[in-house]
Amino acid sequence: MTASEKLSGESRAGQKVIFALDVSSLKEARHFVRLLKGRVVLFKVGLELFTAFGQEAVRAVKEEGGEVFLDLKLHDIPNTVARAAEEALKLGVRMFTLHASGGGEMMRETSLRCRILAEKLNRPRPTILAVTILTSLDEGNLKEVGLQGPVQERVVSLAGLAKEAGIDGVVASPREIIPVREHCGRQFIIVTPGIRPAFAAAEIDDQKRVMTAGEAVSAGADYIVIGRPVRLAQDPAAAMDKVIAEIS
Ligand code: C5P
Repeated sequence: MTASEKLSGESRAGQKVIFALDVSSLKEARHFVRLLKGRVVLFKVGLELFTAFGQEAVRAVKEEGGEVFLDLKLHDIPNTVARAAEEALKLGVRMFTLHASGGGEMMRETSLRCRILAEKLNRPRPTILAVTILTSLDEGNLKEVGLQGPVQERVVSLAGLAKEAGIDGVVASPREIIPVREHCGRQFIIVTPGIRPAFAAAEIDDQKRVMTAGEAVSAGADYIVIGRPVRLAQDPAAAMDKVIAEIS
């Protein structure tokens, strides 16, 4: 039985929540998985933890009973990304990310090779998510790198390209949920960071485009990613319970 199958009833809302393990030690990572695993299933291993501890970080989450969202935002030539994706599959991650701006061929090859390897190994194929435009970039930043036009149009067009290439979904900021959902349809998965629960709104203010977890799910997000409002709370487990209650 997978960790997600063990959750039932009201805790199904917890399946929509990905906790960001933005910590600098495996000990802390293990602590948070142990603390939150009855509430949520998915734990994000990002660049910091993976650069520091590599595969050990993924194994630690799995050993503690969590499933892994490997957020390395792969971006390279098609063969290199596809091979890295095959390694992620072998590691047993449930989801991973790549950059849509790596192009249709890169995404198609990655999706195809993951499908083939999953069949060969008789293992589940990880959900592949594309990052469109990083949520930290605005129109001015895009102009700097020679890209003109509104961010949202670019996000929607890259999401469409990802979908055509066989990618399962995208990471999208709160304000992008509705246009991406309209363009890409109900089956396309939307994962949304930039979540600020009502109880944490005043405490962390470096997020410009924010929504509560409930608002994001109502707008059409399939999963939300949350880190600091839970991690930095006095009682992280209670904070996570509040986030889940907002969703259900
Ligand atoms: O801000 P918070 O700690 O909740 O962020 C959780 C995760 O979501 C972080 O790991 C960060 O990489 C990601 N994030 C993002 N875009 C944002 C805000 C956060 O991708 N606007």
